[in-house]
Amino acid sequence: MAPPLYKTSPRTPSYLYPLVIALSLFTLTALLLYKVDNFVSQTKTVVGHNLEPTPWHQFPAKTFEEETRHGRAYKIIHCSYLTCRHRNDNPKERLRAPSGSNQTTTMCPEFFGAIHRDLQPWVATKISNAHLVEAQKYAAFRVIIVGGKLYVDLYYACVQSRAMFTIWSFLQLLRRYPGIVPDVDMMFDCMDKPTINRTEHQSMPLPLFRYCTTVEHFDIPFPDWSFWGWSEINVRPWHVEFPDIKLGSTALTWEQKIPIAYWKGNPDVASPVRTELLNCNDTMVWGAQIMRQDWKKAAKTGFKESKLSSQCKHQYKIYAEGYAWSVSLKYILACGSVALIISPQYQDFFSRGLIPQNNFWLVDALDLCPSIKRAVDWGNDHPAEAEAMGRRGQELMETLNMDRVYDYMFHLISEYAKLQDFKPNPPSTAMEVCAESVLCYADEKQTAFLKQSAASPSQAPPCTLPPPAKTG
Ligand SMILES: *[C@@H]1O[C@H](CO)[C@@H](O)[C@H](O)[C@H]1NC(C)=O
Ligand SMILES: *[C@@H]1O[C@H](CO)[C@@H](O)[C@H](O)[C@H]1NC(C)=O
Ligand SMILES: *[C@@H]1O[C@H](CO)[C@@H](O)[C@H](O)[C@H]1NC(C)=O
Repeated sequence: MAPPLYKTSPRTPSYLYPLVIALSLFTLTALLLYKVDNFVSQTKTVVGHNLEPTPWHQFPAKTFEEETRHGRAYKIIHCSYLTCRHRNDNPKERLRAPSGSNQTTTMCPEFFGAIHRDLQPWVATKISNAHLVEAQKYAAFRVIIVGGKLYVDLYYACVQSRAMFTIWSFLQLLRRYPGIVPDVDMMFDCMDKPTINRTEHQSMPLPLFRYCTTVEHFDIPFPDWSFWGWSEINVRPWHVEFPDIKLGSTALTWEQKIPIAYWKGNPDVASPVRTELLNCNDTMVWGAQIMRQDWKKAAKTGFKESKLSSQCKHQYKIYAEGYAWSVSLKYILACGSVALIISPQYQDFFSRGLIPQNNFWLVDALDLCPSIKRAVDWGNDHPAEAEAMGRRGQELMETLNMDRVYDYMFHLISEYAKLQDFKPNPPSTAMEVCAESVLCYADEKQTAFLKQSAASPSQAPPCTLPPPAKTG
């Protein structure tokens, strides 16, 4: 009888128990870690973990501070899954009706009327789930508000911290107007170029929010992230930046300001207008000075020279669109110089308040340098009128304080929500986001701007939206 090849033991000897327990614990832990890893690698975050850049506008993939896999897993679980659960959510506070302490309503600025025009394409058809399914193909994320809570479904990463600050802006709106922001479901893209071409999407206009639009697009403009701060280039929240620019602009009297047209920016952004602008760089011939903004250098010197409030030294300031629309418009107008705006194609939500030769000077892109020269000559011949034009531009931006920015968001969202023919409900892939979870992901600079731009409940109701203009 051959001896067994190995001795099988039906029972584990008792002295091996600790080892078996240790081994199974180890396997269990390994399995759990594997599961967690899997789970974490599928969790998309407001800063862009596990998200690719938008295919329609490529940019370098994001890198993250936390170096180890463990660090990343810990952060994602902590910020995405645990933070909102453990915050202090008080439904009474969240759903509280607006306080009746101050019911004085003011009329919204006239440019709020654009809300009706922007939403006109859906007045007859309403906005259906099918619209959202189609619009999702062009969206970086989806924002769903239900019962005063914010849910976000993330599809693509946004450049820099745009997604973080835009999601923050929704959270602040909810904080400012508890109980009155309606349930809503909206698709959002955070890149610069509008994509819903009116001709191509004529048969089914798609509702897609972004920071700008053109007359040829259905894209719906929404206040851009920089009102809450642009941490990468040290532009502070608007409620701090505007008063500072305005104060800076009074450091010199009109007569003391340099009587030439000034532009400083990045000319290398595939913008024909900016390239052409380089040809006007001659103060003697064209009355213009065109300067290159070197952000890398500015970052090294702590952005001291690029400080916006110290950039109001000229009587004329040129605005040139970049790759698409440019955030710089509001800072240029804030200066109180005559804004020389080169035939703009793109509109953002407030630029519909611009009136040519009233609160800005319209420059002809097809006759660029001579057109700039004419503006400068006119202003130098009519200093009082030029100063008044500059002041009206600054006043437009003063009208646009954060109260009004939130009011615009409120009315836009409310009017949009009225058009929905379904009851918003967050999809299973969406995650609740709260102020604490956004802050959880923020780096030091972002945290400072987020905290600085936090809203508090309004004592007054939103301004009154003018009714749609009668057409025909
Ligand atoms: C009521 O609201 C108006 C407009 O926002 C504001 O100017 C005024 O100071 C408020 N009054 C009180 C008592 O809060
Ligand atoms: C919109 O689409 C039409 C038809 O394809 C095209 O001719 C037009 O140039 C497009 N407009 C823009 C702004 O891209
Ligand atoms: C424009 O001209 C000024 C003065 O000659 C010069 O310092 C500046 O570098 C020029 N700007 C560009 C973008 O070349």
